Amino acid sequence: MEKPRKLYVKTYGCQMNVYDSERMGEVLGGQGYIATENPADADMILLNTCHIREKAAEKVYSELGKLKPLKDANPDLKIGVAGCVAQAEGEEIMRRQPLVDLVVGPQSYHRLPQLEAATRAGQKALDTDFPAEDKFDHMDARPKARRAPAAFLTVQEGCDKFCAFCVVPYTRGAEVSRPATRILQEARELVDRGVREITLLGQNVNAYHGAGPNGADMSLAGLIWELDKIDGLERIRFTTSHPNDMADDLIEAHGSCAKLMPYLHLPVQSGSDRILKRMNRSHSAQSYLDLIDRIRAARPDILISGDFIVGFPEETDADFEDTMALIRKVRYGQAFSFKYSTRPGTPAAERAQVDPDVASDRLYRLQELLSQQQAEIQNDMVGRTVNVMFEKTGRLPGQMVGKSDYLHAVHVAGAEGQVAVGDIRAVKIISSGRNSLAGELV
Ligand code: 5AD
Ligand code: SF4
Repeated sequence: MEKPRKLYVKTYGCQMNVYDSERMGEVLGGQGYIATENPADADMILLNTCHIREKAAEKVYSELGKLKPLKDANPDLKIGVAGCVAQAEGEEIMRRQPLVDLVVGPQSYHRLPQLEAATRAGQKALDTDFPAEDKFDHMDARPKARRAPAAFLTVQEGCDKFCAFCVVPYTRGAEVSRPATRILQEARELVDRGVREITLLGQNVNAYHGAGPNGADMSLAGLIWELDKIDGLERIRFTTSHPNDMADDLIEAHGSCAKLMPYLHLPVQSGSDRILKRMNRSHSAQSYLDLIDRIRAARPDILISGDFIVGFPEETDADFEDTMALIRKVRYGQAFSFKYSTRPGTPAAERAQVDPDVASDRLYRLQELLSQQQAEIQNDMVGRTVNVMFEKTGRLPGQMVGKSDYLHAVHVAGAEGQVAVGDIRAVKIISSGRNSLAGELV
């Protein structure tokens, strides 16, 4: 038998890329590749890239430059660029960096076997089409190895919202939902192999409207209720959501579906109506706050997480203060915040930019406030008993680490031997650290 070739994949950016990287590994598994953690060992290196913020392409070029010695040492090594930078700048990358053998955009991963074969035949391969078929329908089933207890499952891709700052509608294309039957089948396969928690992924996951078993469209809540029926699946999460797609049935599910975890990532980006309008968000600060109230009425203990952009073109001090005021009202348990970065080709790129020092100051203040809220909410957990699903051993001997229902990392000393990976156990929280909690089994 031929010796298996080795594949090294480096993943940047969002969880969807993590899922895609896994699936690419599986597809190339069908071509005789096995995974390696060591790039120096690899016969193929794939960079799965992210284009969301500044210097994305520069980072890819610098990463590719670092691979030169490996290519010199092993002329058979094939180097590929996948993901959103590949989609946006694939041809340019091929031109500028002769090291690159293969460029593949996110919608074409099912064509990797042909692309890989072309590189083996000494050709350069580039595919950044938006094919009509669903790539996942054409990708091999997952391998049968036992998996980690938590898995991602992409249910929807692309976005039709066209926020004025965002490249996603251009790199990932229009919004497409996968059929519910396929998703449920994949979920059952995951559970058969030991998965107990599934996070449904989509750029606009709550806009999900895939074909249900009877042909009629199914909402995300409908899909969640179908997943709820799968024995052995204990936890369901989803990300990322848009406020305007937070349907009543989904809010209701947060109150009544025990497997749906009390955590919601609901980006607002800004608290200023003037800026929200310029961002093309089509919701106001108040409508977002009202929505949060309704979600909390359904599930009072839900942990809300958000994304924020400061220094969006024309943002004034008053606009920024509106964002700070909104944050004070919501109380976020977790948040991701960014300085606006100009993305070529997006509408906001043409507008008057905010002084970078002003934007840095704002980001600093905003992050102080968000960290303070995160710390307060973590401190509120101390003394409470929460369910934790254990995912791995910790850094200290005997320690096990897992995630609470609220997605907090929880460390439990001396738990090794008492709990196994995948166990869900009640844990009493005894202290709160910077980014995690510590607890003891009850
Ligand atoms: N500049 C800064 N942040 C951005 N995001 C998306 N595009 C930009 C940009 N051009 C942020 C948004 C989004 C998150 C994934 O990344 O907050 O929700
Ligand atoms: Fe980008 Fe807005 Fe779509 Fe989110 S909703 S992916 S920020 S365009």
